[in-house]
Amino acid sequence: MNIIYMDNAATTYPKPEAVYEAVDYFNRFLGANPGRGSNQQTLRAGSVLLEAREKIAQLFNITESSQIAFTLNITDALNTALRGILKPGDHIITTSMEHNAVARPVFALAEEGIEWTTVSCFSDGSLDPKKIVEAIKPNTKVICMLHASNLTGTIMPIAEVGKIAREHGIIFIVDTAQTAGVLSIDVEKQFIDVLTFTGHKGLLGPQGTGGIYVRPDIEIKPLRYGGTGSLSEYLEQPDIMPDLLESGTPNTPGIAGLLAGVQFILETGIENIRKHEQKLMDMLLCGLKEVPGIEIYGPLNVKKQTAVLAFNIKDIDCGDVSLVLDHEYGIITRAGMHCAPLAHKTIGTFEKGACRLSPGFFTTEEEIEKVIKAVHEIARQK
Ligand code: ALA
Repeated sequence: MNIIYMDNAATTYPKPEAVYEAVDYFNRFLGANPGRGSNQQTLRAGSVLLEAREKIAQLFNITESSQIAFTLNITDALNTALRGILKPGDHIITTSMEHNAVARPVFALAEEGIEWTTVSCFSDGSLDPKKIVEAIKPNTKVICMLHASNLTGTIMPIAEVGKIAREHGIIFIVDTAQTAGVLSIDVEKQFIDVLTFTGHKGLLGPQGTGGIYVRPDIEIKPLRYGGTGSLSEYLEQPDIMPDLLESGTPNTPGIAGLLAGVQFILETGIENIRKHEQKLMDMLLCGLKEVPGIEIYGPLNVKKQTAVLAFNIKDIDCGDVSLVLDHEYGIITRAGMHCAPLAHKTIGTFEKGACRLSPGFFTTEEEIEKVIKAVHEIARQK
């Protein structure tokens, strides 16, 4: 049975051929530590990081690519941002749609004396930016929010919130886990001070890659200290970016793959990626709306969401639906809480979870037709 991969919100699969080739090439022919020594292998490894930073900067309209540090993934980037910027007594605003990558570090910081306000979103996951304004206090240091939900795909008004943050002198941190590589992101137009991204989803790179961009005037402390290959005679961590936030040997083979993924996106064009994903989502929404007993969550509007669709059928356990789709149809989905309990509470599925379908750029219309047919059959049989 051929697999139909519908879990791109977790990790995109497959990757462009160039991504596989870049990882293989690095491991086979380069293999060295970037920035450690001045031999030719090391220099070539270093240029992979340099080029990846430049391409990522181009994608997000970042002027200084050296302000981008690579991290293990976006959770690591968000922990770096939150722990590196907030101090006890500071206030942070987040939304009720956040993934645990934001909610858990903020919860832990709240236990250590940081003040936290969660702004409620509507049951389709959307946010009224006015609620952010109402939540601002004299000690608000940070607004941290997602660009789109991993549960409902709901696209958040980050440009509006960014403007509010800038007007109030508040640092704006954005979690682009579900949008980097599929929606247009511009740190200038969207007033983003700290942008966090992962490499293994929309950017089409391997797992174990991600990063953080920090606007030059933002003060941030590292999460980790150690060797950077620079200023090695001092015990103090270098305070220049990206070394400040990049201790230890990076995942250079992964970043070589990420570079190839970003190059693919720049060549293909975000607008073409988005157009294809919207077409697939339109088909899914139209086809699944007709399934008897189905409940679909989110905006139900391809203009207001990414390629993510969460649903339940009657009172069938979402885990069972996912299992049948996998075992009987070869359709790969994710069911349960999606590491986003706050989002499930917001849309009213905290008790039962949901089954999530997330097509990607390489999903075909024929595959979507098969998915629709399978969900119809499951609803009929149960
Ligand atoms: N955050 C990822 C997801 O939504 C892993 O599945």
